[in-house]
Amino acid sequence: MASPPAPRPTPVGACVFDAYGTLLDVHAAVGRHAARIGGGRAPALSALWRAKQLEYSWILSQTGDYEDFEALTERALDVALATQGIADPGLRHALLAAYRELDAFPDAAPALAALRAKGVATAILSNGSPGMLAAAVGAAGLAPWLDAVLSVDDIRLYKPAPRVYALAAMRFGCAPRDIVFVSGNAWDAYGAARFGCRVLWLNRTPQPEEYGLDRLAEGRISTLAELPDRILA
Ligand code: LAC
Repeated sequence: MASPPAPRPTPVGACVFDAYGTLLDVHAAVGRHAARIGGGRAPALSALWRAKQLEYSWILSQTGDYEDFEALTERALDVALATQGIADPGLRHALLAAYRELDAFPDAAPALAALRAKGVATAILSNGSPGMLAAAVGAAGLAPWLDAVLSVDDIRLYKPAPRVYALAAMRFGCAPRDIVFVSGNAWDAYGAARFGCRVLWLNRTPQPEEYGLDRLAEGRISTLAELPDRILA
């Protein structure tokens, strides 16, 4: 008897990445100025800066208001600096400049290049404003490996609203299921999975299970180097 045909591999319309915390290290800005911040305060400052930035994005989307992510990043930094009792306009300026040129994680460019070499389209889908993203992607040297850089600014609504993830499906003219979405942010991975994307949750360090991702995501990866084998298997 003839053996049944092998299952067809799922087509991959595109591999779409979150930017901040996935391709770009959000703690690199504070890291560069840690000595000036001093007193072991740098990690707490960076964590609060990030937490407030995200909180503002969620609150604005809930209330129907919008300010771009660059403005939210500035407001969040002001609150984080004030919380730490730091009043240093020069440091504020330096941190914001550094945020526009964050370091990419070392595995980012090689993974994007490997995907492109296998014929997989690549993109960023981010809360970042177009200006921030262009600056960061350019500074990190990622631009040559990306087919698209998509910003929520087009719809003035932040992740994890479903309409954000629809931007990726629309850009690549495919079904949500044909988008592989990669994020190191659990709440973002959840948003993409609920929208219907294939999701790989990036755990550079092991994270506790959240949002039912052990069930909703296709899997966890610990480095972007795992991607080509995982999504084209
Ligand atoms: C982004 C943030 C949420 O890049 O990490 O969309």
